Amino acid sequence: MNPLFGGNTLKLGLFCTNGPGASQTLAPEAHETSWDMSLRTARAADRAGFEAVVPFARWKGYPENRPQHRSGRVLDPFTWAAGIAAATENIGVFATSHAPTLHPIVAAKQAATVDHISGGRFALNVVGGWNRPELEMFGAPMREHDERYDHLAEWLQVIRRLWSESDEFDFHGRFFDVVGGVSEPKPVQSAIPIMNAGGSPRGMRFAAEHADLCFVIVHSEDEDAIRDQIQGYKQMAREEFGREVRVWTHTVVVQSDSQAEAEAYYRRFSVEQEDVESVDAWMRLQGANTEVMPPAVLQAMRQRFAAGAGGFPLVGTAETVAERLGTLSRAGIEGALLTWVDYDTGIADFTRDVLPLLEEAGLRAPVGRSAPSIGRTEPAVIG
Ligand SMILES: Cc1cc2nc3c(=O)[nH]c(=O)nc-3n(C[C@H](O)[C@H](O)[C@H](O)COP(=O)(O)O)c2cc1C
Repeated sequence: MNPLFGGNTLKLGLFCTNGPGASQTLAPEAHETSWDMSLRTARAADRAGFEAVVPFARWKGYPENRPQHRSGRVLDPFTWAAGIAAATENIGVFATSHAPTLHPIVAAKQAATVDHISGGRFALNVVGGWNRPELEMFGAPMREHDERYDHLAEWLQVIRRLWSESDEFDFHGRFFDVVGGVSEPKPVQSAIPIMNAGGSPRGMRFAAEHADLCFVIVHSEDEDAIRDQIQGYKQMAREEFGREVRVWTHTVVVQSDSQAEAEAYYRRFSVEQEDVESVDAWMRLQGANTEVMPPAVLQAMRQRFAAGAGGFPLVGTAETVAERLGTLSRAGIEGALLTWVDYDTGIADFTRDVLPLLEEAGLRAPVGRSAPSIGRTEPAVIG
């Protein structure tokens, strides 16, 4: 069974290890993109019982005319996922795919292939794209914001038919024409889980309708406000689409022996050593091409974008990190992707010090004694 649907109350995942991480920093300890590092960290997370390892899709970095900039040095998620799948035992392995960059017949077959390699542990993060220059490289203008989600929905519809239908089918949509469509072998799983992280009203509606895991950027520090954000999302999915969705988020972990030391380090790498050129470009692109948040909120969150793509900060002692994960869980978050500046040390410290606290808090079962499965919520319609 895909561990994404295992019994732990709070699932954990690694994020962005197929590139230079999620931070946009000049800190010398921030690692370079490397397969060795991808492999080491995925295996460490697998041994620690994490449920997910999620790569990101990036075809070009953020600053203009800087082809060698580290933000663009990102390994291809699908072939990366195939390698990670072959090298791990239990962890859920994701790929991330931009619908405008890959024909659905290719995406369906690649996904089915990685599902076979992983023995049914694969999942797919589907994105419409927002980094305009990278999509322009493909020779097609980026679509208007909401239309990107119409395109993504049709792309996914074709993929799901290829995964599930045994007979050849014709599909004539707004964006795709498929004649005699077929894809064999089918995936190992009856349905490969879909993740989406659209943050705009249209993006959230897309995820609520089509995804098994919906991602939010948590805005507030306050548990009740976070609960309102999550419950609002789940309620919209229920009312508009008759679906129960799982809501996950991504985070930035800075763990230290003292709170002051952790906060000082968080400030050092994300403010004093911020990659200003990169974050400026990211903010411009996000402001122009996404509708996740108003410009003022985007500006206010600058440090969080520099620290880790807007992830919720888990900064402090092991106890603080565990408490903050507890806050997210009580507020309704079902999974947290973790990022660090230095993943090797980060995972080792987290596994040694934070995981036992999460187990004590009943959020996770110790590795090897997994909690009973919560079962799979298919994209089912509620009665
Ligand atoms: C956890 C997470 C992972 C994401 N992964 C990618 C990615 O790999 N590639 C990408 O271009 N966008 C990625 N995004 C961006 C979203 O898919 C989405 O395009 C963005 O949040 C803008 O939302 P909007 O399109 O609804 O305005 C990710 C966002 C989050 C929060």
